[in-house]
Amino acid sequence: MRVLGIMGSPRIKGNTDLLLDEALKGAQSQGADIDEIVLDKLKISPCREYYGCLKEGNCVIRDDMDDIYPRLLGADDIIVASPIFFYTVSAQLILLISRCQALWARKYVLKNLDIPLRKGAFIAVGATRGKRLFDGPKLTIQYFFKAINAEYIDELLIRGIDKKGEIKGHPTALTDAFELGKRLVTTSPGKGY
Ligand SMILES: Cc1cc2nc3c(=O)[nH]c(=O)nc-3n(C[C@H](O)[C@H](O)[C@H](O)COP(=O)(O)O)c2cc1C
Repeated sequence: MRVLGIMGSPRIKGNTDLLLDEALKGAQSQGADIDEIVLDKLKISPCREYYGCLKEGNCVIRDDMDDIYPRLLGADDIIVASPIFFYTVSAQLILLISRCQALWARKYVLKNLDIPLRKGAFIAVGATRGKRLFDGPKLTIQYFFKAINAEYIDELLIRGIDKKGEIKGHPTALTDAFELGKRLVTTSPGKGY
């Protein structure tokens, strides 16, 4: 069982990073092999709409996505973690998602995305307490998961956390993240959200 964590915050040891670490530890506690991508350390271009991917399902841009595609395709479970920036996910994460148009093309145009259905979970943290804070980001991640043949089965969405590392003072968040990681590995596809 391979679990891939995608860390969308630019703030290392910030709230998203700490939550994802706990979730990956939870997955590891169930025997999973874990892998993590820290997006802010990578050079990823946005999708440029060259549409080269419509030919064979491969993006024609050469950058750090070259290393990410096989890790994304080879994972059994995927945890996407992001801070909320302007009611959406971070720009770093949107870059990766936009480049997954190549996988969308394999699935829906070329119909050769030959991988089993995986499980996906979303972790997000924002400073405010707005009722609709996670509506937009959730839709984005649900659609992203669908495009890469993953099922959105779990989430941990936390409001009211702003300063770096403030999540450590939250009464349940880190434990909840650990439990999410455990659940992700032990839940069968089709059994989640
Ligand atoms: C550019 C930017 C935009 C933000 N936009 C929002 C927002 O729309 N809603 C919100 O609740 N918090 C917003 N925040 C606050 C962050 O979501 C919050 O500080 C979060 O805890 C950061 O997580 P991190 O430590 O993992 O980066 C924003 C912060 C930044 C830097």
